[in-house]
Amino acid sequence: MSRQTQAIIHADAIINNFSVLSSIAPDCDAMAVIKADAYGHGGVNVARLLRGRAKRFAVAIIEEALVLRDAGIVEPIVVLEGAHQPRECALAFQHNCILVMHTQQQLEWVRHCEPDQRPAIWLKVDTGMHRLGFAVDEIEHIVQAYHGILCEETVLATHLACADDEQSDATPEQLAAFSKVAAQFNFPVSIANSPATILWPQSRRGWNRLGVGLYGSQPVAGDVNIKPAMTLRSSVIALRTIPAGDSVGYGQAWTATRDSRIATVGIGYADGYPRHCPNGTPVIINGSKAELVGRVSMDMITIDVTDVPTVSIGDSVELWGENLSIDEVAAHAGTISYELMTRISARVPRIVRHR
Ligand SMILES: Cc1ncc(COP(=O)(O)O)c(C=O)c1O
Repeated sequence: MSRQTQAIIHADAIINNFSVLSSIAPDCDAMAVIKADAYGHGGVNVARLLRGRAKRFAVAIIEEALVLRDAGIVEPIVVLEGAHQPRECALAFQHNCILVMHTQQQLEWVRHCEPDQRPAIWLKVDTGMHRLGFAVDEIEHIVQAYHGILCEETVLATHLACADDEQSDATPEQLAAFSKVAAQFNFPVSIANSPATILWPQSRRGWNRLGVGLYGSQPVAGDVNIKPAMTLRSSVIALRTIPAGDSVGYGQAWTATRDSRIATVGIGYADGYPRHCPNGTPVIINGSKAELVGRVSMDMITIDVTDVPTVSIGDSVELWGENLSIDEVAAHAGTISYELMTRISARVPRIVRHR
């Protein structure tokens, strides 16, 4: 019997989430952002599930696109960071990938490709996030100077810094700056990520780029019916009772205040369960909430099951998923769901479950 530490990928949830988020903006096109191995869910898994639904996929780097091509995924793929090296332009052309251009150097690389072998490109505009993109007052010059390498596919894109904050002044400012730039040209546009799609109607234009919402995290409060796409689970591999006053784990970071039943669970930071989860981080066992006690080890955690009736070795433990929100665990860990999802390690099998 193998170790019961697994990430169950809920196929129906991913399909549901794509459909729910797309239907918020029925006049737009939606692309599925499946970079970082589809936020840990398996890029090929997710691309197969969304085949025929998402017209395009997006990844961060060309290597991620090539993995999808090797698996037979044929839809156009937008490479959000564009090319890091000139030779990636030829690869993008061969593999029907669209490169997002954010530096003049990248545009030069494309210009130097044979005219009939240039990859399709998008132009990224920096409207205030100051991470990638041409400055707002630079874009007119860029469009003129590189007119010859633009194509039918060319989209003007930007990214919002504070889309998950409904009160943010930054978002209306970015949207206004982008609208001004976009109005100068006739390009299709792309602005919204998942939180923007939910919270900012003016951002829903052209191509919406759906990431974390597909995977069921609720990056923004609301009534949007998205469902958890991953249940991370493990099992109890040891059980003991310790007297009040004894401590558990490395550094004796938790001390029992009463006689306590401690279950050791076969998952640790080498699997991607965050080491900095503190005492009190919730897990679900046998339908009850229990708490992490003691430090997370490389391959194991310890939980206090004193109040959970009839725990046995082999019982399943949910770290997050259908019964425990990943956002709740992320809050305990002082991080965001994106980080938890993407850090599940290769040691954890992803099991796609259709039901
Ligand atoms: C440029 C870009 N667009 C879209 C997304 C998807 O964002 P989200 O996962 O918040 O939907 C990301 C994610 O980081 C991104 O970097």
